[in-house]
Amino acid sequence: MVPKALIGALTGLALAGFAASQAFAEEEQPYMVVSHEIPEYLPGAVPGDVAAGRKTAITKSKGNCLACHTMPIPEQSDHGLTGPGLTGVGSRMTEGELRLRIVNPKIVNSETMMPAFYKSKGLHRVLKKFEGKTILTAQEVEDIVAYLVTLKDE
Ligand code: HEC
Repeated sequence: MVPKALIGALTGLALAGFAASQAFAEEEQPYMVVSHEIPEYLPGAVPGDVAAGRKTAITKSKGNCLACHTMPIPEQSDHGLTGPGLTGVGSRMTEGELRLRIVNPKIVNSETMMPAFYKSKGLHRVLKKFEGKTILTAQEVEDIVAYLVTLKDE
């Protein structure tokens, strides 16, 4: 016999787990592109959190930016060289340009290898779990943007 209270607790945990897995991704919401920028926060998101953005950027199952970019992240030794280094990127690019690059870099370079982190429509060869879902949530994108803005040249 499993006590009722325990069943309740386990159900609660399962539901919490479900909610957490839902938070991984969402459907793309409309945003406005002005020239090579997305000037406004993504729909439903609030100003990004720098520390959260740094973490999301270097987490392999999230941004995984270090796979292709060098960054001022001394605690991890493997930094990819496919893309340009991101140290100082906050001095080179505006917040709106950075947002667009992360949302969907194909808007500025259709040939780029960089993934579109906030795109759920018109994707090809996508893993089942990402069908109809963005890789990052709007808020995770904003957090990474807030972090990149801080990467100024010395
Ligand atoms: C699969 C490789 C890959 C991954 C993963 C990747 N990028 Fe990129 N990124 C590139 C390449 C290649 C470019 C060069 C420009 C192009 O291809 O359009 C680039 C360009 C950029 C630029 C423009 C920099 C400049 O100086 O012009 C920014 C900003 C950027 N990436 C941020 C990120 C961030 C933040 C992440 C993680 C959320 C990320 N990238 C993940 C490959 C990648």
